[in-house]
Formats: sequence, structure tokens, C-alpha cells
Amino acid sequence: MGATAARLASAPGRINLLGEHVDHQGGTVLPVAVNLRTTVSYTPGDAWAFLSEGHDDGGDWTRYVRAVLDILAEEGHDLVPGRLAITSRVPEGRGLASSAALEVAVAGAVSDAMPFDLMHLCRRAENEKVGVPCGLMDQAVAACAISGHALALDCRDGTFFHLPLPEAELLLFDPGIERTLADTPYAERLAEAGKPGSAAARHVAEENARVARGIELLDKGDAEEFGDLMFESHASLRDLYRCSLPALDTLVDELARVRGVYGARLMGAGWGGCVVALVEPGVRLEGGQLLVSDDGLYRMAADDADNGS
Ligand code: GLA
Repeated sequence: MGATAARLASAPGRINLLGEHVDHQGGTVLPVAVNLRTTVSYTPGDAWAFLSEGHDDGGDWTRYVRAVLDILAEEGHDLVPGRLAITSRVPEGRGLASSAALEVAVAGAVSDAMPFDLMHLCRRAENEKVGVPCGLMDQAVAACAISGHALALDCRDGTFFHLPLPEAELLLFDPGIERTLADTPYAERLAEAGKPGSAAARHVAEENARVARGIELLDKGDAEEFGDLMFESHASLRDLYRCSLPALDTLVDELARVRGVYGARLMGAGWGGCVVALVEPGVRLEGGQLLVSDDGLYRMAADDADNGS
């Protein structure tokens, strides 16, 4: 069914604790929703109209909107055209999955699809209509995450459970390297990952083992040892999956020398984007943004407080 009355839907961006570049190979991932959301206000009318506050006007964000509307229509959702007014607080091109937040918020505003279906529909929209062969992680966390928990997502079928975050803080460091996923070697490396014996396939196998161990550690609330897995993940993304950049490596190396930093790694697809760090509660690091806190509330560092969701 499509929506017939005005309504509002929103979806968050995400960070990812562990499990990078394994979703497209059917691995398990541990993403966490952040307190930055994309909100879509839908008003039924005679024709589709798309307006966006947080997006560049000339940007190609409308292709994500159209992709979702096309997939919903193909899936038999009887959509009523209307005006979509979009406000996005998820920065674009930073590895925070802004396109998935947009897709899920649009689908939630115009249809009655349930969260589990939303994630699959929106992933298909990105794969089949936008042409990016991404895995399920970003759309799943945008549709199904709850606050204060990682979404332990089995990407073979989208089943998941919510895992409480350990007593630690998650900080995000942004060296300011913007990129669009479609312009990275994402698809090329994904193809390599499917070839047994390749460096990328080795990354996937080892990252899967790290995630399995990471879930045990989160179960015990062991943030410190979990952090070691994050450093290992970064080294593997740098050396085997080859999706890091010198600026990200330098940041991770610097963080590794700071007392109270349990772990850090590049996050998201790579070739740009941010570094996520797991940090002892109360430790303040220059340039870090507090995105997710152990009390389950999402909040920003003081200077970003007006961004709150
Ligand atoms: C992007 C993709 C995800 C995932 C990550 C890497 O965010 O959209 O599906 O593959 O890269 O883990």
C-alpha cells in the first residue's frame, strides 16, 4: 500500500564497529545508528515533487529518491504521487551512509512497508536502479537499528539481533576527504573478494572471524579487547582490502598512541570517509565528535548540539 495522508518518516546515518566489506559476501556486521537523521515529509498531491534542505540543489540525490519510488512501484505498492520535503543531517560522502538514510526515509514516508522489508527494498533500489552493488548493512541499520545498541546483522538474509554497546564512547574523526561510493573501486574490489585466494577474499574471511569474536566480547562488555579487533580490522582494510588512504592510516596510528583509545579504524567503504574510535568514557580527544554514548542516548559534542535529532 502507498500512503494516502501526509506523514513524516526519518532514518539515521550509521557508523560501523566491525565487519567492513563483508556484507556483500554474506558476512555479519556490527553497525550502530548515529544521532544524525534524514527526515522526509510527504504530502499527497497530483505529481511528484522533490525538495531538499540538507542536500546540494544540483546534486544527484534525486536518483536515490526515484530509485526507491521505482522499486516500490515494481513491488506492487500503489503509490500516490506527492511532495517530498527532505531535511538531511547526515553528511554526504563521509562514509556515514547518507544515501541509505535517504532511501529508507523516503520509502517509509510514501509506503506502508515494514522495517524488515524496507531494508531489502532499499538495497535493491541501490543495486538495481542506482547501480551500486552494495551489501545490506546501510539500509538495514537505517531501517532497523535501535539506540544504544549495535545491530548484529547476518547479511545472508537480513536477520539480526540488538547488542548493547559496551561502556565506552564512540568518536568519529573526519579528515575531510569527500567521495561518492559510485566513484570508488567498490565494485572492482567486491569482485576480487569473490575470488578464493585473493587478498580481498582473505580480508573477508579474517574479518568474519573478528566479528564472531567481537560479538563474544560485546556480550561480555569487554571494550578494551574489542578495540584490538578494530585496529586489526584497519590493518587488514589497508593491506589486504586496499581501501585505505594515507590520511586515514595516519589518524589511526596517532589514535593508537593515545591512552584511553581502545581501538580505531577506517569505517564504511573507505577511499575517504571517517575513522571511528572506541574510547574510554570521559577521555576527550581534539577533533572527535561524540556520536553515540554508552547511556544509549545519541548526542553530539557541545558545538554540534543544535544538530540533535
Ligand atoms: C558501503 C556499502 C555497504 C558496505 C560498506 C563496507 O557503505 O554501502 O554495503 O559494503 O561500504 O563495509
